[in-house]
Amino acid sequence: MSVTYQVIGASSTPPATGKAEREVGRSVRSPVLKARLRQETVARLRQLIEALEARNLSLPGDEDAERIYDRFIASYARRPMRDNAGGTMHNSSFWVFATAALLRPPLIVESGTYLGQSSWMMAEASPDSRIVTFDIVRERLRAKDPRVAYRLGDWSDDPEFRELPDGALIYFDDHISHRRRIEETVARGGALALLDDDMPGHALYATGAPPVPTRAMMQDADLPPGTRCEWERNGKVYAYDYTKSDAASGRRHIAWSTPMPDLTPVNLYVPQSPMTLIGLRAETESEG
Ligand SMILES: C[S@@+](CC[C@H](N)C(=O)[O-])C[C@H]1O[C@@H](n2cnc3c(N)ncnc32)[C@H](O)[C@@H]1O
Repeated sequence: MSVTYQVIGASSTPPATGKAEREVGRSVRSPVLKARLRQETVARLRQLIEALEARNLSLPGDEDAERIYDRFIASYARRPMRDNAGGTMHNSSFWVFATAALLRPPLIVESGTYLGQSSWMMAEASPDSRIVTFDIVRERLRAKDPRVAYRLGDWSDDPEFRELPDGALIYFDDHISHRRRIEETVARGGALALLDDDMPGHALYATGAPPVPTRAMMQDADLPPGTRCEWERNGKVYAYDYTKSDAASGRRHIAWSTPMPDLTPVNLYVPQSPMTLIGLRAETESEG
C-alpha cells in the first residue's frame, strides 16, 4: 500500500520566475509546522542578538526575537515585490529587517536600491529611521514608498552625507568594492555598515561582479597579500590581485564583524549571499 499526500486546494497566483520560483508561493501551512519554522528561525536570530550584545552594541529596538520574527512575517507577506529575483529575497530580507529592527538607526543610507525591496523592508522594521536609498539606475518598476527617499547617483557624491550622524547605518548592496565602501564610510564618520555579497576569496564565483576586495577577504588571515584571486563564472574568467594595502585597510578600519546566520538549512529557500554587519574604527583611533 502506498501512502501519499492529498491535493486539498489550488492557488490562482502565477508562478514566480527564475530563482524566485524556489521560494515564492512556497510555504508551510499547518500551525504546528509554522511554529517549528518560527522556533528554528528565532534561534538563529537569537544568535545574532547575542553576538551583538557581546559587542556591547546598543540595541534600542528592545523587541524580543519572536516579536521581530512575527513582524517580519507580516511585513514580508505585504511586500511590494512578490518576485524580487536579482535582488533581496526571503532570507536576506529577514536579516536586513532584523538589523534595522534591532539597531533602530536614526539614519539608514542604502546603496543599491534596485526595485526597492530592502529599503521597504527597513522602513517596515524601523519606522522612525530616516531612510535614503541610492542607485545609479532609474528603475521603472521601483517601489515608491513615502517613508523612503530615493536618490539617483552614488552616495559618496551626495554632499548631504559628508558627515554621518551617530548611530547611522550604511547598507551596501551595490557590488562595489567593500574596501572602497568601508573607507568612504570611515571618512564620513560612520561606525556601522552592513555589507551584502561578502564572499570569501575562494567563492567569488557565487555572484556576478563580486565587490572585491570583500570584507571577508580583507579579514582573512590565511589570504596572503600578493595572491591572485582567479575565478570563473558563466564562461568568463576573472582575476583580482589582493594587495598588502587591502589587508592593511582591513586591519586599520574594521573593528569587528558579525556575519548574519544562514537560514538556508532552516527553510531551504534560495541561499543568500553572505551578509555581514561591521563596526568601524574612527580615523583618529586608527591613526594611533
Ligand atoms: C543586487 S541589486 C540591489 C538589491 C536591492 N537592495 C534589493 O532590495 O533587492 C544591486 C543594485 O546596485 C546598483 N548599483 C550599482 N552601482 C551602484 C552605485 N555606484 N551606487 C548605487 N547603486 C549602484 C545596481 O544598479 C543595482 O540596482
